[in-house]
Amino acid sequence: MDLELAGKSVVVTGGGSNIGRAIVLQFAEEGANITIGDIDTASAEKVAKLAIERGAADAQVVKTDVTSIDDVNALFNAATSKYGSLDALVNNVGWDNLMLFTETTPEFWNKVININYVGVLNCCKAALDIMIPQGTGGSIVSISSDASRQGEPREAVYGGVKAAINSLMKTLAKENGRFQIRCNAVCPGVTIPADDEVGNESMWTNKDAMFNDDQLAKVAKMLPLKKVGRPQDVANPVVFLSSAKRAGHITGQVLSASGGYSMIG
Ligand SMILES: NC(=O)c1ccc[n+]([C@@H]2O[C@H](COP(=O)([O-])OP(=O)(O)OC[C@H]3O[C@@H](n4cnc5c(N)ncnc54)[C@H](O)[C@@H]3O)[C@@H](O)[C@H]2O)c1
Repeated sequence: MDLELAGKSVVVTGGGSNIGRAIVLQFAEEGANITIGDIDTASAEKVAKLAIERGAADAQVVKTDVTSIDDVNALFNAATSKYGSLDALVNNVGWDNLMLFTETTPEFWNKVININYVGVLNCCKAALDIMIPQGTGGSIVSISSDASRQGEPREAVYGGVKAAINSLMKTLAKENGRFQIRCNAVCPGVTIPADDEVGNESMWTNKDAMFNDDQLAKVAKMLPLKKVGRPQDVANPVVFLSSAKRAGHITGQVLSASGGYSMIG
């Protein structure tokens, strides 16, 4: 199925690791022009090189902290200056440190809210400021989490912020549908990278601190599909939703790619 993303200009935040890396490589197979915004340029450059080997029209890396509006504006300027347009944004950056809410501090709440929510607000604002006057429609997909759809122990602040992202995508879908700009959210469940898919700044640099082997086996057993996710499981629906040709009548949706963990109909 041709997604007609060849030559399109796409921005992926956090493309240097795990899910973002798989999204970049899937866009590469579709022949897109890819701009990766990541704080970790060393890991992102490796992914950009691989993207070109896998068929990207081109790929560039811009050092970006998504919590900084100046960095984000520079990221989107780089995409439009080099590739002439902005067709799709994937808000992939996210961060958490699993712990009970009673163990968290206001400093921790601020960090979670800034990286996971302010970063998305910054990127959506910058993208819409380009897409609306450009007049050729566009797509925004934000990576949320199944923690947003049902309470998840040790993910209280993060789950709440991801629920805010789902709501934001629905509102932006309603406000910008008249410009043919589609906004959707994709919710992974536990999604595990291989060692060579982990960036230097990834949450997964110490995998056991996130989920040890016993916990992963329990998660897999509990899921309807009996396996934990791999980054490609999330990249597939994200890239599909970014295609105006194939997903052009889908907007304001929250889609789980989580092995059936949550089933919200
Ligand atoms: N992996 C999972 O199990 C899982 C589950 C549910 C949701 N998610 C969501 O999926 C997305 C990707 O998760 P992942 O596991 O691939 O993460 P990861 O930690 O492996 O990668 C995150 C990437 O973002 C970059 N980054 C971090 N902070 C940044 C910032 N302030 N500005 C720019 N770049 C920054 C990192 O350098 C890294 O390349 C996140 O939004 C996460 O919340 C992941």
